Amino acid sequence: CGIVGFVGDQDDALPFLMAGLKRLEYRGYDSAGIALAAHDGIVIQKTRGRLAQLEKRVATLPGHVPCGIGHTRWATHGRPTDENAHPHMDCTGTIATVHNGIIENFQDLKEELIAKGHRFLSDTDTEVIPHLLEEYGGLTDLVGAVQAAEARLRGAYAFLAVSSHEPDKIVAVRRSSPLVVGLGEGQNYLASDFSAFLDLTRRAIVLENGDMAVVTPQNVSITTTHGEPLNRPVMVVDWDISQAERGGYPHFMLKEIMEQPDVWSDALLGRVQNQRVVWREMGLPASVAETVRRIRIVAAGTAYHAGLVGKMLIERLARIPVEVEVASEFRYSTPIFEPGTLVMAISQSGETADTLASVRLAHELGVPTYAVVNQVGSTLARESDYVVYTHAGPEIAVASTKAYTTQLLVLTLLALGLADLKGRGRPDLVQHLLSLPHIGQTLLGQLESVRQMAESLSLKRDVFYIGRGLDYALAMEGQLKIKEIAYIHAEAYAAGELKHGTLALIEDGTPVVAIVTERDVAEKTISNILEVKARGAEAWGILDRQITGDIPVDHQIVIDTPDPLLAPAIAALPLQLLAYWTAVFRGEDVDKPRNLAKSVTVE
Ligand code: G6P
Repeated sequence: CGIVGFVGDQDDALPFLMAGLKRLEYRGYDSAGIALAAHDGIVIQKTRGRLAQLEKRVATLPGHVPCGIGHTRWATHGRPTDENAHPHMDCTGTIATVHNGIIENFQDLKEELIAKGHRFLSDTDTEVIPHLLEEYGGLTDLVGAVQAAEARLRGAYAFLAVSSHEPDKIVAVRRSSPLVVGLGEGQNYLASDFSAFLDLTRRAIVLENGDMAVVTPQNVSITTTHGEPLNRPVMVVDWDISQAERGGYPHFMLKEIMEQPDVWSDALLGRVQNQRVVWREMGLPASVAETVRRIRIVAAGTAYHAGLVGKMLIERLARIPVEVEVASEFRYSTPIFEPGTLVMAISQSGETADTLASVRLAHELGVPTYAVVNQVGSTLARESDYVVYTHAGPEIAVASTKAYTTQLLVLTLLALGLADLKGRGRPDLVQHLLSLPHIGQTLLGQLESVRQMAESLSLKRDVFYIGRGLDYALAMEGQLKIKEIAYIHAEAYAAGELKHGTLALIEDGTPVVAIVTERDVAEKTISNILEVKARGAEAWGILDRQITGDIPVDHQIVIDTPDPLLAPAIAALPLQLLAYWTAVFRGEDVDKPRNLAKSVTVE
C-alpha cells in the first residue's frame, strides 16, 4: 500500500527506505519489505507484521548500497504472509519489484509464465511483474523490458523495478495508483505520496496515469510507456507532513470521500465483461450459488446498512428472499435455517466480534457462509467458506465512507450475477455500473452547496432522514454518519411511516433530509415532504434528476443516475459530505469521533 524508492550517488538507500516506510505507516499495512540493488546482486528482506520486525531483519544487511525499493503491503491478492510481502523477484534474482494496486489479468499471465518455466513463490498478483520483466529482456535492459511488460498488464497499479545489472536506476510506472518523484541533490526518491520524503526535499513531480519514470541519482526522465518523452512540471510542495499524508485534505474522511470514484473502479475491476458479471470473480462457486434459496445477511453498523441495500437489490433482481440482521442480535437469536440458506457476512475490517460470532454460529449449524470483506486475510475472510473482497483500500477515518460504497457496488454485482445465473440477467444495468466512477467524480465536483446545508444543520439539535425503498436504506446510513461525527440526534424513517408517530416531532425549522431516487414511488415521497413542510420543517432534498415536477424542498442536491437501482452509491456522496461538513462546522474531531472505534473486536 506504500511504495518507496531511493537512488543516490553517495548515500546509503537503507536508512531512507526505512524512514520512508515509517512515514507511510499511516496508510495501514500488514507486511513490509525492502530490496537493495548492487552489482553483486539483490538483497531482499521482508516480513509479515510491523516495521519493527523488518528493522530487526535489516540490521545485518550490508551498508552503502545506494539503490533500493521498499513496500508496506495491505493485502489484496494472497494473505498477509512473509512470502506474499513485497519485493518480489524474477527466477534469476536479478530483478526486484514492488507494486500497489491490482493486476486484473495476473492469473492468465501467471499460467503463461509457468508454462514457460517460471517458478512462483507467492500468491500475489505482483509476482508476475518481475517474471514478465525477465521474459522481456529485463536481465540486460530494464527500461525496454518495463515497456514491453507493461503492455501486457491490465488493471490499476503503480510499480517500481530495480535490477542488479543496472543498480543505478529505478524504473517506475503509474497507472491509476498514485506515485510521486522527489528531487534531491545527487539523489532522487519515489514514493506513493510526498510524506515519505518531505523532510529531504520539497521539489517533486507527480506522475500521471500512463507515465514511466527512469530515475537515476542525477536525472529523472519521464516518458509514456512507449518511450515518448513527456514534460511534467516540478512542483514545490508546501504541505506539512501530516497534510501530505491526507493528500492535502484536512481530514482522512474527506480524502476517503473524494477518492471514492477511484476505489469504485478498483471494486469493479475485472468483474464485468461483455455486459455480464464475471461470476468467478464473486468468490462463490456457481454450483453453490445455484442451490441458494434464501440469504441471511449479518453485519454491524455501516455494513448492516449496506446489507439493507443488498437485500433490496438481490430480491428485486434475483428474486431470492433475503433477511438482514444486526450481528449482535443474530448471534443470540435461535435462527431457523431452511435448507438452501446462505449466511452472508458483510464487514470492512473482517474482525467485528459479533459478525464473526454469527458466522461461527452458522458453521456450527452446518450452514454455508460467504463474506463480503475489505480486509484481505482478516479472520472473517479466513473463517468463511467463501469470500469476495470489496477493494476499498485501507480506510483510516472511523466513520466509514468508501468501505460502504464499495460494499454497495459488490452487492450490486452479486445481485446482478445471481440474477444472471437464474436467467434474469440485466446486461443494461451491468453496463451502466461501469459509468458510476465517472458520475461520482462529476458529482463530487458539484457539491459546494452541501456546505451551506451543513452550516445550517450544524446549529440544529435534531434531524430526520426520510426515503422509501433503497432511499430508506440510504437514509439509515445518512443518519448514522451525522450521529457518529457531528453528534447531532438523527433518525431515519421510512417516509410513509412518519405519520404514525414521528410527525409529532416536526416543528418550525426541524431539518428533514428527503432522499428521492426511487422513481416508482417518488410521488408518494413528495407527498410526505409536503406533510413535513406543512408542519414547519426545513426540507432538503437529494433528488434524482429524472424526477420532475414541483418538489417542495428548500434546498436540493440533484444527482444523475442511469437507473434507480444504481442510485445508492451516488446518493451516498452528498450524505457523507453533509455529515463531514456539519462536523467541521461544529469543530468536532472528524476522523476520531468520541467513544467510537474503527473496528470493534469485543462484544
Ligand atoms: C464499528 C465502526 C463502523 C463499522 C462497524 C462494523 O462500529 O465504527 O464504522 O461500520 O464497526 O465494522 P466492520 O469492520 O465489520 O464493517
